[in-house]
Amino acid sequence: MSDSYRVAILGATGAVGTELLELLESRQFPLADLKLLASPRSAGRKMSFRGEELPVEPVSDRSFDNIDLVLASAGGSTSKLWAPKAVEAGAVVIDNSSAFRMQADVPLVVPEVNPEAAATHRGIIANPNCTTILMAVAVWPLHQVQPVQRIVAATYQSASGAGARAMEEVKVQSMAILQGETPKPEVFPYPLAFNLFPHNSPMTELGYCEEEMKMVKETRKIFGAPELRITATCIRVPVLRAHSEALNIEFSEPFPVEKAREILAKAAGVQLVEDWQANYFPMPIEASGRDEVLVGRIRQDISNPNGLELWLSGDQIRKGAALNAVQIAELLATKNLMKRSKPVLAS
Ligand code: A2P
Repeated sequence: MSDSYRVAILGATGAVGTELLELLESRQFPLADLKLLASPRSAGRKMSFRGEELPVEPVSDRSFDNIDLVLASAGGSTSKLWAPKAVEAGAVVIDNSSAFRMQADVPLVVPEVNPEAAATHRGIIANPNCTTILMAVAVWPLHQVQPVQRIVAATYQSASGAGARAMEEVKVQSMAILQGETPKPEVFPYPLAFNLFPHNSPMTELGYCEEEMKMVKETRKIFGAPELRITATCIRVPVLRAHSEALNIEFSEPFPVEKAREILAKAAGVQLVEDWQANYFPMPIEASGRDEVLVGRIRQDISNPNGLELWLSGDQIRKGAALNAVQIAELLATKNLMKRSKPVLAS
Protein backbone atom coordinates (compact mmCIF):
# COMPACT_ATOMS: atom_id res chain seq x y z
CA MET A 1 0.00 0.00 0.00
CA SER A 2 1.95 3.03 -1.18
CA ASP A 3 -0.76 5.73 -1.29
CA SER A 4 -2.76 7.03 1.59
CA TYR A 5 -6.44 7.83 1.47
CA ARG A 6 -8.91 10.43 2.70
CA VAL A 7 -11.62 8.43 4.43
CA ALA A 8 -15.05 9.36 5.80
CA ILE A 9 -17.05 7.15 8.16
CA LEU A 10 -20.78 7.72 7.75
CA GLY A 11 -22.47 6.55 10.96
CA ALA A 12 -19.27 6.99 13.00
CA THR A 13 -21.10 7.13 16.33
CA GLY A 14 -22.93 3.79 15.87
CA ALA A 15 -21.96 0.31 16.99
CA VAL A 16 -20.31 -0.51 13.64
CA GLY A 17 -18.95 3.05 13.15
CA THR A 18 -17.13 2.93 16.47
CA GLU A 19 -15.61 -0.41 15.49
CA LEU A 20 -14.57 0.97 12.09
CA LEU A 21 -12.66 3.70 13.89
CA GLU A 22 -10.94 1.19 16.12
CA LEU A 23 -10.02 -1.05 13.17
CA LEU A 24 -8.63 1.80 11.03
CA GLU A 25 -6.42 2.62 13.99
CA SER A 26 -5.32 -0.88 14.98
CA ARG A 27 -4.82 -2.17 11.40
CA GLN A 28 -2.77 0.84 10.36
CA PHE A 29 -4.92 1.59 7.31
CA PRO A 30 -3.00 4.15 5.18
CA LEU A 31 -5.00 7.26 6.05
CA ALA A 32 -4.29 10.74 4.79
CA ASP A 33 -7.31 12.13 6.59
CA LEU A 34 -10.37 10.88 8.51
CA LYS A 35 -13.75 12.56 8.65
CA LEU A 36 -16.47 11.41 11.05
CA LEU A 37 -20.06 11.83 9.88
CA ALA A 38 -23.35 11.12 11.63
CA SER A 39 -26.79 12.68 12.05
CA PRO A 40 -27.36 16.21 13.36
CA ARG A 41 -28.05 14.56 16.75
CA SER A 42 -24.31 14.01 17.12
CA ALA A 43 -23.20 17.54 16.22
CA GLY A 44 -20.60 18.78 18.68
CA ARG A 45 -19.55 15.27 19.70
CA LYS A 46 -15.88 14.27 19.52
CA MET A 47 -14.33 10.82 19.12
CA SER A 48 -10.71 9.93 19.77
CA PHE A 49 -8.54 8.51 17.03
CA ARG A 50 -4.75 7.97 17.10
CA GLY A 51 -4.48 10.25 20.13
CA GLU A 52 -6.52 13.08 18.64
CA GLU A 53 -10.08 14.23 19.34
CA LEU A 54 -11.91 14.35 16.01
CA PRO A 55 -15.20 16.26 15.64
CA VAL A 56 -18.32 14.41 14.46
CA GLU A 57 -19.99 16.38 11.68
CA PRO A 58 -23.60 16.13 10.54
CA VAL A 59 -23.56 14.69 7.02
CA SER A 60 -24.24 17.30 4.31
CA ASP A 61 -23.91 17.87 0.58
CA ARG A 62 -20.29 19.02 0.99
CA SER A 63 -19.24 16.15 3.27
CA PHE A 64 -17.71 14.09 0.46
CA ASP A 65 -15.61 16.77 -1.22
CA ASN A 66 -12.01 15.52 -1.44
CA ILE A 67 -12.86 12.12 0.04
CA ASP A 68 -11.46 8.94 -1.56
CA LEU A 69 -13.37 6.35 0.46
CA VAL A 70 -16.60 6.34 2.45
CA LEU A 71 -17.27 3.56 4.95
CA ALA A 72 -21.02 3.79 5.43
CA SER A 73 -22.93 2.20 8.30
CA ALA A 74 -25.88 4.45 9.06
CA GLY A 75 -28.80 2.35 7.80
CA GLY A 76 -30.37 1.71 4.41
CA SER A 77 -32.26 4.96 3.92
CA THR A 78 -29.21 7.06 4.84
CA SER A 79 -27.07 5.06 2.40
CA LYS A 80 -29.65 5.38 -0.37
CA LEU A 81 -29.59 9.13 0.09
CA TRP A 82 -25.86 9.74 0.54
CA ALA A 83 -23.96 6.95 -1.24
CA PRO A 84 -24.84 8.15 -4.77
CA LYS A 85 -23.84 11.70 -3.77
CA ALA A 86 -20.52 10.43 -2.42
CA VAL A 87 -19.90 8.50 -5.64
CA GLU A 88 -20.74 11.59 -7.67
CA ALA A 89 -18.24 13.56 -5.59
CA GLY A 90 -15.55 11.03 -6.61
CA ALA A 91 -15.43 8.68 -3.63
CA VAL A 92 -15.71 4.90 -3.49
CA VAL A 93 -18.34 3.76 -0.98
CA ILE A 94 -18.18 0.53 1.00
CA ASP A 95 -21.74 0.28 2.23
CA ASN A 96 -22.76 -1.82 5.19
CA SER A 97 -26.51 -1.44 4.62
CA SER A 98 -28.72 -3.65 2.50
CA ALA A 99 -29.55 -0.76 0.13
CA PHE A 100 -27.40 -1.87 -2.83
CA ARG A 101 -26.44 -5.47 -2.06
CA MET A 102 -28.57 -7.19 -4.66
CA GLN A 103 -28.02 -4.57 -7.38
CA ALA A 104 -26.39 -6.35 -10.35
CA ASP A 105 -23.71 -3.67 -10.86
CA VAL A 106 -22.71 -3.59 -7.17
CA PRO A 107 -20.21 -6.24 -6.04
CA LEU A 108 -21.06 -7.98 -2.76
CA VAL A 109 -17.75 -8.94 -1.23
CA VAL A 110 -16.36 -11.21 1.46
CA PRO A 111 -12.57 -10.95 0.97
CA GLU A 112 -11.96 -14.61 1.95
CA VAL A 113 -14.49 -15.73 -0.67
CA ASN A 114 -14.75 -13.44 -3.70
CA PRO A 115 -12.05 -10.73 -3.52
CA GLU A 116 -11.96 -10.60 -7.33
CA ALA A 117 -15.49 -9.14 -7.37
CA ALA A 118 -14.21 -5.92 -5.77
CA ALA A 119 -12.39 -5.05 -9.01
CA THR A 120 -15.70 -4.72 -10.86
CA HIS A 121 -17.00 -1.87 -8.72
CA ARG A 122 -18.43 1.27 -10.25
CA GLY A 123 -18.33 3.35 -7.11
CA ILE A 124 -20.23 1.26 -4.57
CA ILE A 125 -19.19 -2.04 -2.98
CA ALA A 126 -21.69 -3.69 -0.66
CA ASN A 127 -20.75 -5.35 2.59
CA PRO A 128 -23.01 -8.39 3.04
CA ASN A 129 -25.44 -9.06 5.86
CA CYS A 130 -23.70 -10.17 9.05
CA THR A 131 -25.11 -13.69 9.35
CA THR A 132 -24.39 -14.19 5.65
CA ILE A 133 -20.73 -13.18 6.04
CA LEU A 134 -20.20 -15.56 8.96
CA MET A 135 -21.83 -18.45 7.10
CA ALA A 136 -19.91 -17.69 3.89
CA VAL A 137 -16.52 -17.69 5.63
CA ALA A 138 -17.22 -21.13 7.14
CA VAL A 139 -18.91 -22.82 4.17
CA TRP A 140 -16.80 -21.49 1.27
CA PRO A 141 -13.66 -23.57 2.05
CA LEU A 142 -15.80 -26.76 1.99
CA HIS A 143 -17.65 -25.62 -1.15
CA GLN A 144 -14.26 -25.26 -2.88
CA VAL A 145 -13.52 -28.94 -2.30
CA GLN A 146 -17.02 -30.38 -2.92
CA PRO A 147 -19.79 -28.12 -4.19
CA VAL A 148 -22.48 -27.59 -1.57
CA GLN A 149 -25.97 -28.63 -2.69
CA ARG A 150 -28.07 -27.27 0.17
CA ILE A 151 -27.69 -25.39 3.45
CA VAL A 152 -30.19 -25.42 6.32
CA ALA A 153 -29.29 -22.62 8.71
CA ALA A 154 -30.62 -21.64 12.13
CA THR A 155 -29.23 -18.44 13.61
CA TYR A 156 -28.90 -17.17 17.17
CA GLN A 157 -28.43 -13.43 16.65
CA SER A 158 -27.23 -10.98 19.26
CA ALA A 159 -28.61 -7.54 20.02
CA SER A 160 -25.62 -5.82 18.38
CA GLY A 161 -27.11 -6.56 14.96
CA ALA A 162 -29.71 -3.89 15.71
CA GLY A 163 -27.13 -1.30 16.77
CA ALA A 164 -25.76 0.36 19.88
CA ARG A 165 -29.19 1.35 21.25
CA ALA A 166 -30.38 -2.25 21.02
CA MET A 167 -27.40 -3.47 23.05
CA GLU A 168 -28.17 -0.86 25.68
CA GLU A 169 -31.82 -1.93 25.69
CA VAL A 170 -30.92 -5.52 26.58
CA LYS A 171 -28.80 -4.34 29.51
CA VAL A 172 -31.50 -2.00 30.79
CA GLN A 173 -34.19 -4.67 30.37
CA SER A 174 -32.06 -7.26 32.19
CA MET A 175 -31.55 -4.94 35.15
CA ALA A 176 -35.25 -4.06 35.22
CA ILE A 177 -36.28 -7.74 35.27
CA LEU A 178 -33.79 -8.53 38.04
CA GLN A 179 -35.37 -5.74 40.08
CA GLY A 180 -38.82 -7.22 39.56
CA GLU A 181 -39.94 -4.63 37.02
CA THR A 182 -41.53 -5.19 33.60
CA PRO A 183 -39.28 -3.75 30.91
CA LYS A 184 -40.70 -1.60 28.14
CA PRO A 185 -39.22 -2.46 24.74
CA GLU A 186 -38.28 0.47 22.50
CA VAL A 187 -35.77 -0.64 19.86
CA PHE A 188 -37.01 -4.21 19.62
CA PRO A 189 -40.72 -5.00 19.35
CA TYR A 190 -40.62 -7.37 22.33
CA PRO A 191 -38.46 -7.76 25.43
CA LEU A 192 -35.22 -9.52 24.49
CA ALA A 193 -33.77 -9.92 27.99
CA PHE A 194 -34.49 -13.46 29.25
CA ASN A 195 -36.38 -14.08 26.01
CA LEU A 196 -35.87 -14.77 22.29
CA PHE A 197 -37.99 -14.22 19.21
CA PRO A 198 -37.84 -14.74 15.44
CA HIS A 199 -35.87 -11.96 13.74
CA ASN A 200 -37.94 -8.79 13.60
CA SER A 201 -37.09 -7.78 10.01
CA PRO A 202 -40.10 -7.31 7.71
CA MET A 203 -41.98 -10.46 6.69
CA THR A 204 -42.03 -11.53 3.04
CA GLU A 205 -44.84 -13.31 1.18
CA LEU A 206 -42.95 -16.59 1.48
CA GLY A 207 -43.25 -16.61 5.26
CA TYR A 208 -39.52 -15.91 5.55
CA CYS A 209 -38.42 -12.62 7.12
CA GLU A 210 -36.07 -10.38 5.15
CA GLU A 211 -33.07 -11.39 7.27
CA GLU A 212 -33.65 -15.03 6.26
CA MET A 213 -34.02 -14.10 2.60
CA LYS A 214 -30.77 -12.10 2.79
CA MET A 215 -28.94 -15.26 3.82
CA VAL A 216 -30.42 -17.04 0.81
CA LYS A 217 -29.95 -14.41 -1.88
CA GLU A 218 -26.70 -12.85 -0.71
CA THR A 219 -24.91 -16.19 -0.26
CA ARG A 220 -25.88 -17.18 -3.80
CA LYS A 221 -24.48 -13.90 -5.14
CA ILE A 222 -21.23 -14.07 -3.13
CA PHE A 223 -20.63 -17.74 -4.08
CA GLY A 224 -21.62 -17.10 -7.71
CA ALA A 225 -24.06 -20.02 -7.26
CA PRO A 226 -27.53 -18.77 -8.22
CA GLU A 227 -29.07 -22.24 -7.86
CA LEU A 228 -27.70 -23.02 -4.39
CA ARG A 229 -30.54 -24.24 -2.15
CA ILE A 230 -30.57 -22.45 1.20
CA THR A 231 -33.19 -22.19 3.91
CA ALA A 232 -32.80 -20.24 7.13
CA THR A 233 -34.56 -19.51 10.41
CA CYS A 234 -33.23 -16.37 12.07
CA ILE A 235 -33.73 -15.89 15.79
CA ARG A 236 -32.80 -12.94 17.99
CA VAL A 237 -31.30 -14.05 21.32
CA PRO A 238 -30.37 -12.08 24.44
CA VAL A 239 -26.65 -12.07 23.68
CA LEU A 240 -25.01 -8.66 23.55
CA ARG A 241 -22.54 -9.20 20.77
CA ALA A 242 -21.58 -12.01 18.32
CA HIS A 243 -23.99 -14.17 16.38
CA SER A 244 -24.06 -17.98 16.32
CA GLU A 245 -25.35 -20.33 13.64
CA ALA A 246 -26.20 -24.02 13.38
CA LEU A 247 -25.56 -25.12 9.80
CA ASN A 248 -26.60 -28.34 8.10
CA ILE A 249 -24.63 -28.58 4.87
CA GLU A 250 -25.49 -31.11 2.18
CA PHE A 251 -23.13 -32.27 -0.56
CA SER A 252 -23.71 -34.56 -3.54
CA GLU A 253 -21.66 -37.30 -1.84
CA PRO A 254 -20.31 -37.92 1.67
CA PHE A 255 -17.85 -35.32 2.97
CA PRO A 256 -15.60 -37.02 5.57
CA VAL A 257 -15.69 -35.15 8.89
CA GLU A 258 -11.92 -35.40 9.31
CA LYS A 259 -11.38 -33.83 5.90
CA ALA A 260 -13.79 -30.98 6.74
CA ARG A 261 -11.97 -30.40 10.02
CA GLU A 262 -8.58 -30.32 8.27
CA ILE A 263 -9.85 -27.86 5.66
CA LEU A 264 -11.48 -25.56 8.20
CA ALA A 265 -8.44 -25.65 10.49
CA LYS A 266 -6.44 -24.04 7.68
CA ALA A 267 -9.16 -21.82 6.21
CA ALA A 268 -8.70 -18.04 6.02
CA GLY A 269 -10.75 -16.21 8.63
CA VAL A 270 -11.71 -19.40 10.51
CA GLN A 271 -10.61 -20.63 13.93
CA LEU A 272 -11.45 -24.22 14.75
CA VAL A 273 -12.75 -24.50 18.34
CA GLU A 274 -13.43 -28.09 19.38
CA ASP A 275 -12.73 -30.01 22.54
CA TRP A 276 -15.10 -32.96 22.46
CA GLN A 277 -14.07 -34.25 25.91
CA ALA A 278 -14.81 -30.93 27.55
CA ASN A 279 -17.90 -30.26 25.42
CA TYR A 280 -16.18 -27.00 24.48
CA PHE A 281 -17.24 -25.39 21.23
CA PRO A 282 -17.68 -21.85 19.80
CA MET A 283 -19.50 -19.43 22.08
CA PRO A 284 -20.53 -15.85 21.33
CA ILE A 285 -18.83 -14.58 24.47
CA GLU A 286 -15.51 -15.93 23.17
CA ALA A 287 -16.12 -14.79 19.59
CA SER A 288 -16.71 -11.21 20.76
CA GLY A 289 -13.84 -8.94 19.79
CA ARG A 290 -12.24 -11.67 17.66
CA ASP A 291 -11.53 -11.36 13.94
CA GLU A 292 -12.01 -15.05 13.15
CA VAL A 293 -15.27 -16.95 12.80
CA LEU A 294 -15.12 -19.69 15.44
CA VAL A 295 -16.23 -23.03 13.97
CA GLY A 296 -16.67 -26.39 15.66
CA ARG A 297 -18.90 -29.31 16.54
CA ILE A 298 -18.35 -30.60 13.01
CA ARG A 299 -20.11 -33.92 12.72
CA GLN A 300 -21.73 -36.31 10.28
CA ASP A 301 -25.45 -35.70 9.85
CA ILE A 302 -26.94 -39.00 11.07
CA SER A 303 -30.05 -38.41 8.96
CA ASN A 304 -28.19 -37.92 5.68
CA PRO A 305 -24.99 -39.66 4.46
CA ASN A 306 -24.13 -36.56 2.38
CA GLY A 307 -24.65 -34.09 5.20
CA LEU A 308 -22.40 -32.32 7.69
CA GLU A 309 -23.47 -30.40 10.78
CA LEU A 310 -21.45 -27.53 12.20
CA TRP A 311 -21.80 -24.74 14.72
CA LEU A 312 -20.21 -21.29 14.56
CA SER A 313 -19.95 -18.05 16.49
CA GLY A 314 -18.62 -14.84 14.99
CA ASP A 315 -18.42 -11.23 16.05
CA GLN A 316 -21.27 -9.55 14.21
CA ILE A 317 -19.85 -6.05 14.62
CA ARG A 318 -16.35 -7.11 13.61
CA LYS A 319 -16.23 -9.79 10.85
CA GLY A 320 -19.99 -9.47 10.34
CA ALA A 321 -19.66 -5.77 9.54
CA ALA A 322 -16.75 -3.41 10.32
CA LEU A 323 -13.82 -5.79 9.81
CA ASN A 324 -15.20 -7.09 6.53
CA ALA A 325 -15.57 -3.47 5.33
CA VAL A 326 -12.02 -2.56 6.37
CA GLN A 327 -10.68 -5.72 4.70
CA ILE A 328 -12.44 -4.63 1.50
CA ALA A 329 -10.87 -1.17 1.91
CA GLU A 330 -7.44 -2.80 2.34
CA LEU A 331 -8.07 -4.87 -0.77
CA LEU A 332 -8.91 -1.73 -2.75
CA ALA A 333 -5.78 -0.03 -1.43
CA THR A 334 -3.45 -2.97 -2.12
CA LYS A 335 -4.81 -3.63 -5.61
CA ASN A 336 -5.02 0.06 -6.45
CA LEU A 337 -8.79 -0.16 -6.95
CA MET A 338 -9.72 2.94 -5.01
CA LYS A 339 -10.23 4.92 -8.20
CA ARG A 340 -13.00 4.02 -10.60
CA SER A 341 -12.14 3.15 -14.15
CA LYS A 342 -15.75 2.62 -15.21
CA PRO A 343 -18.79 4.90 -15.37
CA VAL A 344 -20.37 5.84 -12.06
CA LEU A 345 -23.73 4.53 -10.90
CA ALA A 346 -26.70 6.60 -11.82
CA SER A 347 -27.93 8.33 -8.67
P1 A2P B 1 -26.33 9.40 15.37
O1 A2P B 1 -25.51 8.82 16.49
O2 A2P B 1 -26.03 10.85 15.15
O3 A2P B 1 -27.78 9.07 15.45
P2 A2P B 1 -26.39 2.08 15.16
O4 A2P B 1 -26.38 1.11 14.02
O5 A2P B 1 -25.48 1.68 16.27
O6 A2P B 1 -27.79 2.41 15.62
O7 A2P B 1 -25.79 3.47 14.59
C1 A2P B 1 -26.33 4.17 13.51
C2 A2P B 1 -25.37 5.25 13.02
O8 A2P B 1 -25.97 5.89 11.90
C3 A2P B 1 -25.10 6.35 14.04
O9 A2P B 1 -23.80 6.83 13.85
C4 A2P B 1 -26.14 7.40 13.65
O10 A2P B 1 -25.77 8.70 14.02
C5 A2P B 1 -26.07 7.28 12.15
N1 A2P B 1 -27.28 7.80 11.52
C6 A2P B 1 -28.56 7.41 11.74
N2 A2P B 1 -29.40 8.15 10.98
C7 A2P B 1 -28.64 9.00 10.26
C8 A2P B 1 -28.92 10.03 9.30
N3 A2P B 1 -30.15 10.28 8.92
N4 A2P B 1 -27.87 10.71 8.78
C9 A2P B 1 -26.62 10.45 9.17
N5 A2P B 1 -26.28 9.49 10.07
C10 A2P B 1 -27.28 8.79 10.62
